[in-house]
Amino acid sequence: MEFIKVNRQHELHIALVELNRPKELNALNLQLMQELRDTLTALDDDINVRVIIITGNQKAFAAGADIKQMADKGAIDMLKIDQFKTWDQIRKVQKPLIAAVSGFALGGGCELAMICDLIIASETARFGQPEIKIGVMPGAGGTQRLTKVIGKARAMEMVLTGKFISAEEALNYGLINKVVPVESYLGEALKLGKTIAEMSPIAVRLAKESVNKAFDSDLDTGLQFERKNFYMLFGSNDQKEGMDAFINKRKPNFQGD
Ligand code: CAA
Repeated sequence: MEFIKVNRQHELHIALVELNRPKELNALNLQLMQELRDTLTALDDDINVRVIIITGNQKAFAAGADIKQMADKGAIDMLKIDQFKTWDQIRKVQKPLIAAVSGFALGGGCELAMICDLIIASETARFGQPEIKIGVMPGAGGTQRLTKVIGKARAMEMVLTGKFISAEEALNYGLINKVVPVESYLGEALKLGKTIAEMSPIAVRLAKESVNKAFDSDLDTGLQFERKNFYMLFGSNDQKEGMDAFINKRKPNFQGD
């Protein structure tokens, strides 16, 4: 891998995935996205990993899709390359994804953070969909996810003017989970990851699936989906372990079966 570094925290069952193209502010070229897709798919299949954290560096989470790689392309080139196919595969990752964001999270960088299930940001983080300033518009979910999360008025303003918002504004908008000083955003993401990794991995997987269902279904369909997942968990040993631990006032030890 040229543009992705992976650091596994074995005892915590957490994998830290770092975007590593610092000179270009982690601009998401095709190779980086393919490497990220391959990395996440492999980690999703690894039973020792329960939570995946995606991060960049202090200056940039990612400054968007690689403008230099797209600049001279025509519509049919873009269609044939179909760069967002890799994004669809990343969206299908079943394990919880936490984005640990510092610095720029722009365009595809903001969209990548939004594909994640939780976002921890440093005080220096800046979120934005500035594609309008280069004559295009968001293409990796920005107009959809941002609108669903922060509402039409705010999404319109960000997408039509390209303005950046601070970490504090992103927190107030409900786009992210927490803002912390720049020295501690990774530590905070690990802390959150550790809490989730201590839960039953099967319950976490079905809970993530169920929350995501709320984005693309009506209430009745979503409730039926949730109910089936809830009932299904009673087939797991982790449900017996969790409830027994509660009744006997001890800490549960979830094995993921
Ligand atoms: N694509 C390619 N290269 C990029 C890039 C991008 N998205 N963002 C930054 N870079 C490169 C710069 O060209 C520069 O390279 P050189 O040193 O070779 O010139 C290097 O990274 C450092 O960038 P700057 O000198 O511009 O750094 P800065 O601190 O002055 O400004 C910035 C930082 C405000 C983030 C600015 O780089 C910027 O505006 N970047 C583009 C942001 C953008 O428009 N993103 C959307 C891309 S389109 C998209 O993402 C579509 C989609 O929906 C998937």
